[in-house]
Amino acid sequence: MISRYTYGSCIETGAVPEKPEIEAGALPFFVVDEEQMTLTYRMAEHDRVYGLGENLRGINKRGWIYESKCTDDPNHMEEKRSLYAAHNFFVVDGSETFGVFVDYPGIVSFDIGYTKMEELKIQASDWNLDVYVITGMDVKDIVKQFRKMIGRSYIPPLWAFGYGQSRWGYRSEDDVREVVKAYRDLQIPLDSVYLDIDYMERYKDFTLNQETFPDFPDFVEEMKKENIHLVPIIDAGVKEEKGYPVYEEGIEKGYFCKKEDGTPFVAAVWPGRALFPDMLNTEARNWFGDQYRFLLDQGIEGFWNDMNEPSIFYTEDSLKAVMEKIDTYKGKNLDLDSFSEFQGLVGGLSNNPEDYKAFYHDMDGVRVRHDRVHNLFGYNMTKAAGEAFERLEPDKRILMFSRSSYIGMHRYGGIWQGDNKSWWFHLLLNIKMMPSLNMCGFLYTGADLGGFGADTTEELLMRWLEFGIFTPLMRNHSAAGTREQEVYRFGNTAGFRHVIGLRYRLIPYLYSEYMKAALRGEMMFRPLAFDYPDDKYAAQVEDQLLLGNELMLAPVYEQNARGRYVYLPETMKMVRFKEDGTMETEIRPAGHQYIDVELTDVVFFMRPDTLIPLAKPAQCTQDIDFEHLELLKFVQNEMASYEYYHDDGYSKDYENPEHLSLLFSTTEE
Ligand code: GLC
Repeated sequence: MISRYTYGSCIETGAVPEKPEIEAGALPFFVVDEEQMTLTYRMAEHDRVYGLGENLRGINKRGWIYESKCTDDPNHMEEKRSLYAAHNFFVVDGSETFGVFVDYPGIVSFDIGYTKMEELKIQASDWNLDVYVITGMDVKDIVKQFRKMIGRSYIPPLWAFGYGQSRWGYRSEDDVREVVKAYRDLQIPLDSVYLDIDYMERYKDFTLNQETFPDFPDFVEEMKKENIHLVPIIDAGVKEEKGYPVYEEGIEKGYFCKKEDGTPFVAAVWPGRALFPDMLNTEARNWFGDQYRFLLDQGIEGFWNDMNEPSIFYTEDSLKAVMEKIDTYKGKNLDLDSFSEFQGLVGGLSNNPEDYKAFYHDMDGVRVRHDRVHNLFGYNMTKAAGEAFERLEPDKRILMFSRSSYIGMHRYGGIWQGDNKSWWFHLLLNIKMMPSLNMCGFLYTGADLGGFGADTTEELLMRWLEFGIFTPLMRNHSAAGTREQEVYRFGNTAGFRHVIGLRYRLIPYLYSEYMKAALRGEMMFRPLAFDYPDDKYAAQVEDQLLLGNELMLAPVYEQNARGRYVYLPETMKMVRFKEDGTMETEIRPAGHQYIDVELTDVVFFMRPDTLIPLAKPAQCTQDIDFEHLELLKFVQNEMASYEYYHDDGYSKDYENPEHLSLLFSTTEE
């Protein structure tokens, strides 16, 4: 059951398409303090808290404070409270079990046992919020009700389940050709190459660098013949430049965010001075969405939206103030305090909270200061694109994922998990984030495999890919200045070919699981505790996941490890794919145990009486033979079956019952 409680007058976020009636009674479970603007729940000793989507720390979120404040911060360290998104849905599971969604577009904090170990305190920045409380049979049921309420998750084209290679930056057509050639020559499967900011003319959205990408439509076509999709990036900030049509038109029509005095708000991002389209204004949003046509018309079928928290390097006003202040330090003897202040001046320019108070949106006639709706910006940039694709390419699925997001955006696109680093603990973070994102509707997601910032290693990349082959978005991406990270830069080509090759064999299954999860509002990835609620050990497991109803994953995420401890909540079949092309299986009893996992082994566990379809190896999604599938089986009782979803991966009659069939088997062999 879902009950909605409203405080003050809420700004419409669009997260819940059809809102339930407002409840008259008191908010259950919480003590409400209107003055402090807090909701407080007293947790029992063993209560666990799941959710909050894209966030740091554990699957069980208890023990830290999280802040929904979309932030461009590439240092995803334990002490941080925010990443790029605001996903205000969580479930308390314990002496009471209930879900809460705080539909509120401003900054809100979730103190889950940080200030006081037994207290869960939600604090909003102003008192205008919609709070939904959801009760149900168990955590899965609560999540399912919530997902139904927020609407169906975005569905990408099938090719977006293939492996993608990205790097900031491939600078020219030839750079991209080289990548594709290396993959094809080595027979390592590949479906897409991402174009980072260097494909544009001086970082101007919806332009092309004519020198380095001189015949773009031909180039797109050439790549398509190789079964490669090019996926360009689009940034939130539009360059301020006379004669640049997007800028000129935006100014003329008044589509950019404005300062209090009504003049356009200018902030600096990649192109230097830039303006933010008012994504919260319907007309401006439609206009921005229409700009994607420039690339769609040249054959592009996928995009990633970036810097849309929105990220601000500096504003003219703040830069001027800092320059003036720095002048006052000249010739001074700087002591501890003055030196740290001095150091903070330049560092404090980026993403400064004061700048987010300096501009306004015109929400279809209502002027709202940005900080009050900060968390809706990236969401609406992606909505702009998603709605435009419906208008411009109504029969096609277009790949779209964003860096920043809010619940509601999951209907228009996926997300990647931002600028992680080539750190082992970020591989673990990637694992932990999958279920919490699924809870909030974000199914099409994955992290920059191998790590974005910092130098990767062959071993880290291999292990990360061994997990990444299961995530819907499977993309290797790295930052400018870091070690080159395409798999062919490393020694063990056969190992990478084997691991990535397995992804392609699994695509019929992964795609089927994705589609069922999207269409039914279910989670593709779940913590063990969700399926084994009475198992006290399962509740403790933070580094294994369930995938669909069939698999349990137990990735290796530590340097030099050649195995790991695994907890099996029941008897399972361990399946091991080895680099030499062989597959080994072994029935393992329930309980704690150690398993060996050599560097290029891919190991997963099948639950009893399950089947999974496996395709023959393929070099790209286009070549996958969906007609002749093999079945991996673990038949313990009389029969095992698998509900298999398959369509053309491109058109949109998702609900057609013909896409579903039942595969079954009565024997192990
Ligand atoms: C941001 C993005 C990253 C991209 C870079 C350059 O940091 O998160 O993925 O490579 O910008 O565009």
